[in-house]
Amino acid sequence: MGTEPILIVDSLSKSFGEFQVLRDVSFTVEEKELVSLIGPNGAGKTTFYNVVTGKYKPSKGQVLFAGKDITGSPPHRISRLGLCRSFQITNIFLENTVKENILAPLVAYHGKGLSIWRGLNSYNQVQEESMDLLEMLGLSNKAHQIAKYLSYGDKRLVEIGIAMASHPKMIMLDEPTAGMTPQETERMISIIQRLNRETDITFFLTEHDMKVVFSIAQRILVLHQGSLLAQGTPREIKDNPQVRQAYLGESADA
Ligand SMILES: Nc1ncnc2c1ncn2[C@@H]1O[C@H](COP(=O)(O)OP(=O)(O)OP(=O)(O)O)[C@@H](O)[C@H]1O
Ligand SMILES: [Mg+2]
Repeated sequence: MGTEPILIVDSLSKSFGEFQVLRDVSFTVEEKELVSLIGPNGAGKTTFYNVVTGKYKPSKGQVLFAGKDITGSPPHRISRLGLCRSFQITNIFLENTVKENILAPLVAYHGKGLSIWRGLNSYNQVQEESMDLLEMLGLSNKAHQIAKYLSYGDKRLVEIGIAMASHPKMIMLDEPTAGMTPQETERMISIIQRLNRETDITFFLTEHDMKVVFSIAQRILVLHQGSLLAQGTPREIKDNPQVRQAYLGESADA
């Protein structure tokens, strides 16, 4: 496609005191990709999210997002540039309806454009956009429900909707299906795939369920003891002997 990668991670390292959690991690993510970062418990996946999205400063290395150096930038600056992280359901306004939860960030995003003389028009546009978003998330029929009464799976979808409403370029999801029933997991995964297909948003996610990873990821990155052990298509990762030995074990045959 000839475009720059949306994310460039270059020799990223993170230590907590003596303990090195990330070691010289380097890779790129292309626009509109759906990439999954996998690795055993404690491999450093969540730490990687925390360093890239600004919660922690790296000990070494560089992160470029959409052509800008975001190394060590504060989270609000990073999210303003369009790199959005899901923050679990704590981000949701539980006393408000599903639609109101989506409308608030949409209005914030379009804020400047909502001038007084175009008021009604803009209002209708934002209403319409919120309903389109809810439709993509399969939540249209729950638009007017109070968020606190939603199932866990629905709440996590609202959380993704809130992220989407700020028009991000890339969304990072740390175990989006954690704690879900198999049915909720299946629904979440097919919605993420649909969002990836129908929008320009890049998706980056971790996931423990290998069946899920191998069925949806276009590319897989394997983190092992803080180092990037391998990257490639699901097929390449499945066939990689180092990965099999270090991580997948028997489940690679599944
Ligand atoms: N703030 C911190 N201070 C000290 N050590 C930390 C901190 N955050 C994470 N660690 C350590 O870094 C290592 C990697 O943790 P991390 O949570 O990034 O792993 P993970 O790959 O996300 O694991 P999981 O699959 O269980 O979610 C662990 O040994 C953890 O104890
Ligand atoms: Mg984690």
